[in-house]
Amino acid sequence: MGKMTVVLGSAWGDEGKGKIVHFLSKEADIIIRATGGNNAGHTVVVNGAKYALHLIPSGLIAGKLSVICNGVVINPNVLLKEMDELSNRGIDISNLRISDRANLILPYNVALDKLQEKLRGKNAIGTTLTGNGPTYQDKAKRTSSVRVQDLFSGKYKNIIESNVEAANFLLAKNGMEPIDYRDIIEGCDIFADRIGNYSIDSVSFLHNQLNSGKNFLCEGAQAALLDVDLGTHPDVTSSNTTIGGVLTGSGLSHLDVGDVYGVLKGYSTRVGNGSFPTEQDNEIGNRIRELGHEYGTTTGRPRRCGWLDLVALKYACRVNGFNYLALNHLDTIGHFDKICVCVGYEYENMYLEDFPSNAEILKNCHPVYETLDGAFGDISGVRDFEDLPLNAKRYIDYIENYTGVVIKMIGVGPSDEQTIVRNIKSFVHTR
Ligand code: GDP
Ligand code: IMO
Ligand code: MG
Repeated sequence: MGKMTVVLGSAWGDEGKGKIVHFLSKEADIIIRATGGNNAGHTVVVNGAKYALHLIPSGLIAGKLSVICNGVVINPNVLLKEMDELSNRGIDISNLRISDRANLILPYNVALDKLQEKLRGKNAIGTTLTGNGPTYQDKAKRTSSVRVQDLFSGKYKNIIESNVEAANFLLAKNGMEPIDYRDIIEGCDIFADRIGNYSIDSVSFLHNQLNSGKNFLCEGAQAALLDVDLGTHPDVTSSNTTIGGVLTGSGLSHLDVGDVYGVLKGYSTRVGNGSFPTEQDNEIGNRIRELGHEYGTTTGRPRRCGWLDLVALKYACRVNGFNYLALNHLDTIGHFDKICVCVGYEYENMYLEDFPSNAEILKNCHPVYETLDGAFGDISGVRDFEDLPLNAKRYIDYIENYTGVVIKMIGVGPSDEQTIVRNIKSFVHTR
């Protein structure tokens, strides 16, 4: 029996999951994406070439069979564009498979994302405006969703017509352009023709592959603090981005899961709105942003930057059961002479060590910092853990001791080869 290694974001996204997945994909037979949509933006830099992927698993670049599973929401135009772009760059897209259970993001979902954000006013979430939320809303409504398999039965046309009618009512009321359902149906027919050969019952396919001994790697999208149940609600995405979402999003079971990696950066970032206790809306944050090139892969938005929040990281370790951590941007944080890490929160004369369930409380939490020595020097060329400077090792050690999870992989630059892998067994202390 094969096993599935899982790579998940531990914070608010953009931890460098794509890079870690591409690196680990050498050891896997099949790479899967189980959650999210093209709200994700995963950057892979390999042999000097940069790829920004939104839907297609990063493993396709490594020439691996790659499956977009049932839990993913697919914008047909985005997927076709991504397939064409990769194909034009010499990537073999015949390795792609698409679940016939996956739901489609259609133009009215994108328009409704914009409208919902507009109506939220000062409570806007700051979504990626990719239609992600309204598509998962349709999915939860059950009879409003359009799945890949529906395209081959013709059944979807009535659903689209009534969805467009309902959307147009709201759009007109709010002075937005109406949508023509016939254009959408035409687009769906083109999409169905193009992807017919790629569409599969991914659940049966994956189980059969596991039975024949194939090993999988799952590329998480978004991250723990954006999880619709466990994140900083309401400023979250609309799917389960933690380990549970991987299982329901792929149809694989807990028995199939092997190692679970949590990816973090040497500092924290967030795009969009919502609480971010360690945010440095000042020169420190600006410096992190410039040193780490912290601008969104999907929207180009400048990312909010701040110190590493260990309280939040520990929470992500708990809810996901990470047995390894992968720490990216150690090179970036090492530019600072002194590095702060948040080890607790002060809230109304109380000292909190657990991540609060209530966003209002989180908003009023004051981080308590521990200050560690930085000034690592240029570590971008280091490939062996032993060659890291003492302060860098101490930083790693501190995170491990706090979370109780071993840091197995360390990123010292954006390129695939700028990755240190430690020959170390997993340990997980009481968390
Ligand atoms: P993802 O959404 O988790 O895949 O992350 P993104 O690709 O959106 O953002 C991560 C950014 O950090 C990208 O620009 C990567 O190229 C870059 N990156 C990843 N790891 C490292 C690292 O160790 N050092 C540096 N300097 N950049 C990195
Ligand atoms: P990757 O996979 C960072 C954020 C948005 C917004 C909130 C809801 O690249 O880490 P949505 O469009 O999903 O309804 O937006 O979630 N968000 C991300 N932030 N990285 C991502 O993906 C994100 N996907 C969604 O900015 O705050
Ligand atoms: Mg990203």
